[in-house]
Amino acid sequence: MKKIIKNGTIVTASDTYQAEILIEDGKITQIGANLPALGAEVVDAKGCLVFPGGIDPHTHLDMPFGGTVTKDDFESGTIAAAFGGTTTVIDFCLTNKGEPLKNAIQIWHDKSREKAVIDYGFHLMISEINENVLNELPQVINEEGITSFKVFMAYKNVFQADDETLFRTLVSAKEHGALVMVHAENGDVIDYLTKKALEEGKTEPIYHALTRPTALEGEATGRAAKLTGLANSQLYVVHVSCADAVERITEARSEGFDVWGETCPQYLVLDQSYLEKPNFEGAKYVWSPPLREKWNQEVLWNALKSGQLQTLGSDQCSFDFKGQKDLGRDDFTKIPNGGPIIEDRLSILFSEGVKKGRISLNQFVDLTSTRAAKLFGLFPKKGTISIGADADLVIFDPNSERVISAETHHMAVDYNAFEGLKVTGEPVSVLVRGDYVVRDKQFVGKPGSGQYLKRAKYNTNSPLTKDQTLSIN
Ligand code: URP
Ligand code: ZN
Ligand code: ZN
Repeated sequence: MKKIIKNGTIVTASDTYQAEILIEDGKITQIGANLPALGAEVVDAKGCLVFPGGIDPHTHLDMPFGGTVTKDDFESGTIAAAFGGTTTVIDFCLTNKGEPLKNAIQIWHDKSREKAVIDYGFHLMISEINENVLNELPQVINEEGITSFKVFMAYKNVFQADDETLFRTLVSAKEHGALVMVHAENGDVIDYLTKKALEEGKTEPIYHALTRPTALEGEATGRAAKLTGLANSQLYVVHVSCADAVERITEARSEGFDVWGETCPQYLVLDQSYLEKPNFEGAKYVWSPPLREKWNQEVLWNALKSGQLQTLGSDQCSFDFKGQKDLGRDDFTKIPNGGPIIEDRLSILFSEGVKKGRISLNQFVDLTSTRAAKLFGLFPKKGTISIGADADLVIFDPNSERVISAETHHMAVDYNAFEGLKVTGEPVSVLVRGDYVVRDKQFVGKPGSGQYLKRAKYNTNSPLTKDQTLSIN
């Protein structure tokens, strides 16, 4: 079915202009004025901006963690994502030591296949390196199209990998064309500090933050960056929360290392004081890395503006307050880490970033979509509005106002970490490969309609992985 989008203002990472978009067979086939619209359904975008669909490079859907499983699965999670203007997620596939990687990937396909309403890919967690893993990695890249690996430097005795594993993953990724992602916190020292806090009877949520100081994120970020330089490889630091980590990334980039950084809405808007809310409410704000002292927010915003951080992920990892977060009522180390954000990633960045003059409209598109497409092997099929691209499009009303609330959100979880935050700007309609998933703020998609994305390899020499943000304004 043909569609034509009329009367909107197209915004990409580099341009803002008025034009019509013709969609045929799920692809953008023409962009211009007075396009031939015979037989095409008209999508009226009057008064709206038209963005490429958001790409969320960091989600945990249907993931076992902290003695429970995230509340949002690939159905509720991707429905909520679509309402928020995200048309692609890249989710973290967990692996088990001693088991073939292909088994883990199969489990993630089974979780997602009949549920996703938007397109999706996987990053693969690497927790050990041995001959079996090394032999499987080329297959993972070439056959599964999984071209990014995740190494956790924290969560001791759970997900944490040692430095040898990180280094050898970096070497292998360089050889075969993948991007290595790290959760950068010093898990060994955190383990010591948390045990000590518990011994001293410090059990409340705030101790989650106090036992994970910024120095430990900075140290791990710097270590990962140095190992990347030594391996002459490539690194993407997920969920950067503080100035210490931004400094290490900036330093590495100025030395010419291929290092990228992502932050998340929670670190831009919320702060450590939220963990002190009474009646255990602080547990709603337990993320790792933790929320930081407020002054770090300005550093993060500046890093987004200057291009030292290049993407905004949600780190969607939702747990109910009742029945899940309260596993840690008497011991903060048992509070499942993470929160529900997949739905409001674009609205928060638009409202707090573009509307408040902290970033430009084109940077907004780069941060929420284009850059992730380039780094994770999806560009130009995804992440931009151009002829031949998938018609993943967001019709966005820049003036609509709403208050974020669990009462109205579409995630399955029983609270919203941004409850009460007033935001300006929200998606009205969202299309994935030319089909409406959200139409006039109503869900019209179908579970199982989302397609698995095999992604292209990471190529250090490609213009897609060169730094262009600084020239965008
Ligand atoms: O607290 C967080 N970030 N939970 C999700 C898992 C992770 O570390 O990304
Ligand atoms: Zn993490
Ligand atoms: Zn995460």
